Amino acid sequence: MAKERGHWASRFGFILAAAGSAVGLGNIWKFPYITGENGGGWFVLIYLGCIALIGLPIMMAEVLIGRSSQLSPVGAFRKFTHGGSPWMGVGWLGVLAAFVILSYYSIVAGWAMHYTWLSISTGFTEMESDAISATFGSVYANPWINIGWHGAFMAITIAIVAKGVRGGIELASRILMPVLFILLLILLIYSTTRDGFGEAFKFIFMPDSTKLSGASVLEALGHSFFTLSLGMGAMITYGSYLHKKEDLVSASITIAFLDTAVALLACLVLFPIIFTVGMDPAAGPGLVFVSIPIAFSQMTGGALLAPLFFLLLTFAALTSAISLLEVAVSYFVDEIKIPRLVATIMTGFVIFIFGIPSALSGGTALFGSGFADMTQSIFGEGDGKNWFDLFDYLASNWMLPLGGLGIAVFVAWRMGDAAREEGFKTSSQLGKLYWWWVFLLRYIVPIGVLAVFLHAIGII
Ligand code: TRP
Repeated sequence: MAKERGHWASRFGFILAAAGSAVGLGNIWKFPYITGENGGGWFVLIYLGCIALIGLPIMMAEVLIGRSSQLSPVGAFRKFTHGGSPWMGVGWLGVLAAFVILSYYSIVAGWAMHYTWLSISTGFTEMESDAISATFGSVYANPWINIGWHGAFMAITIAIVAKGVRGGIELASRILMPVLFILLLILLIYSTTRDGFGEAFKFIFMPDSTKLSGASVLEALGHSFFTLSLGMGAMITYGSYLHKKEDLVSASITIAFLDTAVALLACLVLFPIIFTVGMDPAAGPGLVFVSIPIAFSQMTGGALLAPLFFLLLTFAALTSAISLLEVAVSYFVDEIKIPRLVATIMTGFVIFIFGIPSALSGGTALFGSGFADMTQSIFGEGDGKNWFDLFDYLASNWMLPLGGLGIAVFVAWRMGDAAREEGFKTSSQLGKLYWWWVFLLRYIVPIGVLAVFLHAIGII
């Protein structure tokens, strides 16, 4: 069966696709807003630590599982454990996570699409900051805007995934990612000239010990999984389309580096604007949708760059969404033997339905404020989450780290030494790092993740 599998055209194709999966709304939408909510400094530092010591080793482990099994997650775990083992649960958890994450991810991608349209149709150039901020509130509260764009975004994602790995995914990443990067650099130049730049720089890079809680650490850990697309088999699946001879170590380092660069760049662009206009850095999910239009409204050429920015953000979301859908689809194709087209449409449709409560979270009491009151009574004081927030919280803070823990423990303790060592060293110039990697996977990852979990539940 391995012979019929689609493969990337080249190692470069894999890096592009994996970086396309990693770089997405997590970097430009989510990272700045949770950095704002968690007080900057420490949060950023812990996040960087999680990327280097936990995320990166797990990424190598995932790519290794995929590349050596040439199978999607559930099948890969079956192959290595000879069937019927509880390890396959790690694969199933990943399939479930794909449904949960994509259902609300698509709503945010819908906002990016809507903002592309808004910046063309009405434009932000004539608008005051207050009006721009009010715009986000009314978009979030409007069920039809949210459901409509959510449907449109899912339809595009389905169409690309239905065409299969190479045709759809590689192409989309090839051109658009570099353009997005350049646009962020242009915005960075603008941001460095704002009055708030100094304050923003301190906020992002100077740890302030008063603002650190256990919940922040859990969030930083969870986000390091989310942003690198780890913990649910996306990198196993992408790794399975990689030829067996390719070097996974340097590829993983490149991907993690690019991803982190974009996340930090997004903060360096957003926060100077936020501090300059006096917005609250803890304003929540609307942060990028308010601060970026404000910047464009003041900048020469902003009227042209604004639609371009939101269009590219939509594409960044698309290359990530594709990898989420691909995990679920490859499960149904490889394990249940459903034809690819049918599996894609069916899965995508279920995710669309799953996303409707998230689409309604900003506007109805049912899934918005009323639901938040209910979760508050479950999670406790100050923790009221609407459906959208709850899905994001459960998936990134709990499901992904749990899945990542399973993957790390599996590769470190369960996979044979020979297979692991051979896999890591194949074609790699960095084979010397092997024992460091094994050490991180064996001890640092499990202890780190468990400690954060236990602390979050209040046991330590
Ligand atoms: N990493 C993407 C982002 O930062 C989101 C994403 C794509 C993802 N595939 C994933 C998150 C798999 C977790 C697991 O936007």
